[in-house]
Amino acid sequence: MEIDESVINLINKKITGFKLLGIGSSLRKNSSSNKILKMVLDKSQRYGANTNIIELSKINFPIFNPNKPKEISEDIKKINDHIINADAFILATPDYHGSMSGGMKNFLDYYWYEFSGKIFGYIVSSHEKGLTVMDHMRTAIRQCYGWSLPYGVSINTEYDLDEYSNISNPKLLLRIENMSRDIVIYGKLLRMQFIYDTNNKEPTTFAFQSKN
Ligand SMILES: Cc1cc2nc3c(=O)[nH]c(=O)nc-3n(C[C@H](O)[C@H](O)[C@H](O)COP(=O)(O)O)c2cc1C
Repeated sequence: MEIDESVINLINKKITGFKLLGIGSSLRKNSSSNKILKMVLDKSQRYGANTNIIELSKINFPIFNPNKPKEISEDIKKINDHIINADAFILATPDYHGSMSGGMKNFLDYYWYEFSGKIFGYIVSSHEKGLTVMDHMRTAIRQCYGWSLPYGVSINTEYDLDEYSNISNPKLLLRIENMSRDIVIYGKLLRMQFIYDTNNKEPTTFAFQSKN
């Protein structure tokens, strides 16, 4: 494959207005997954992301009930615009029984088309590696026609933090840097193409099919 100079310029261009939304699903005080999520969001601003965070511990999210889809809480109404307008997401969860937290799954159940064509990154706090947790989130997002970064960030508080709760594992720090960059750089490319395909109503694309 040969890449035209103009494409390289586009890839390297610092974009503005790229909205990256983090979802922190742990309800635990001093949650480690929420801590890493905030770090990734902060660092991604260097690559041009406008970041926001939704911490499910601060939101009234009743169990999703398909019989009453319109009965949503005032809290949910407030965050809906953030979800709709986000260009990319980072989902952060503790490992609960090898899967995502119930709060995260319940959050995902509320949305579908809002996720299509957008890229997702995953952060898991686990005593293992959290691989099955990431797989479960990936599967849920794939069902909604979302893209996923091919790796995630996993934190094991026992080994990755020092006595002051600072990150002591250089490999974890590198992963955090990787995700902060890649979610914006790859997210931008995928999102631009998706919006282009949707606007041009090109029927052979999945973008067209998922919006019609
Ligand atoms: C109900 C429950 C189930 C859990 N299941 C697992 C598990 O299967 N594997 C694991 O490594 N840790 C498990 N844990 C431990 C949490 O994943 C771990 O404490 C994590 O660091 C918490 O993340 P947080 O600080 O973001 O809340 C479980 C904890 C709870 C409360």
